[in-house]
Amino acid sequence: MIPSKVKLVDVGPRDGLQNEKQVVPTEVKIELIHRLQNAGLTEIETTSFVSPKWVPQMKDNVLVLAGIERKAGVRYAALVPNMKGLEALLDMPVQLRPQEIVVFFAATESFSQKNTNCSIAESLERIAPVVAGARAAGLYVRGTVSCALGCPYEGEVDPAVVGRIAKAQRDMGVQHMGVPDTIGVGTPRKVQAVFEQVLKSFELTDVSGHFHDTYGQALANTLAALELGVATFDASIAGLGGCPYAKGATGNVATEDVVYMLHGMGIETGIDLNALIDAGQFISEQLGRPTNSRAAKALMTKRLSA
Ligand code: HMG
Ligand code: MG
Repeated sequence: MIPSKVKLVDVGPRDGLQNEKQVVPTEVKIELIHRLQNAGLTEIETTSFVSPKWVPQMKDNVLVLAGIERKAGVRYAALVPNMKGLEALLDMPVQLRPQEIVVFFAATESFSQKNTNCSIAESLERIAPVVAGARAAGLYVRGTVSCALGCPYEGEVDPAVVGRIAKAQRDMGVQHMGVPDTIGVGTPRKVQAVFEQVLKSFELTDVSGHFHDTYGQALANTLAALELGVATFDASIAGLGGCPYAKGATGNVATEDVVYMLHGMGIETGIDLNALIDAGQFISEQLGRPTNSRAAKALMTKRLSA
């Protein structure tokens, strides 16, 4: 049942950097994306078209997208919260647009208000025309339900609630459903219970895991999802990130750590771990702090002592 091939989506340039307090120059973001695609990543979440008042770090979205040297076979994605975001994205020439957008909802009312300033019902109404507009423009639409494994404000989340929000997204035309553990509180059996609900309305090939590592559970949660046959995962280079609306949440699991685990299990990713580690070193140096990837730290030490 465990897939022999897994696709990883690096969300570092968006989910990772969105939380960064220091201004990260546009050229650094572009260089990071180049390094990720050269390491073999075939899907990269590049930026977001959210309000710059809410997330100033992503305000260079158009410049980042325009600056990327496109690589054949790579799908570039951007997060979009509303029609204004979609319009800005569609104002770009077709060849500079991402091929994919990510729309996001929350599993709890409190998180929905904090993250998008509206209720869950309002967000469904707000996003429906975004999905329709994106599909009409030929974009692939991924959806997600923040706090699917637990909420910083409301605690436990009922997997059935996540299943219902996933179904509402399917009904509006969303093509892929991510299961994020926004604050990293989930544990393996709970992860499986949530996927079982989401799989009522999405095919196994159209779901993914998005695990933050706050409680050190992300690799165990990845394995739990792999056991169900899930074959796509988001991860963040050097474990960058956190969520500006989820205090204390750390970054996504480091892409390097997931690749190390998958390759060790004989699972193909198409990613060159050494090149990936170099990409992680590049961004860690730019940010002036050590990587959060355990595998990268260990392999860097080995490199230095070789
Ligand atoms: P709002 O303040 O309610 O929006 O924010 P509004 O429609 O009232 O507009 C207020 C101002 O923002 C106006 O400007 C708009 O033009 C502007 P003003 O008239 O005051 O000058 N505005 C925009 N500007 C640029 N692009 C836009 C846009 N929209 C409005 N798209 C809104 C509502 C949804 C926009 C806001 O709450 C927002 O941007 N939220 C995004 C927050 C965010 O990015 N969070 C992190 C991403 S989610 C995440 O990380 C989780 C995930 O990784 C999965 C997981 O781990 O859970 C996906
Ligand atoms: Mg996230």
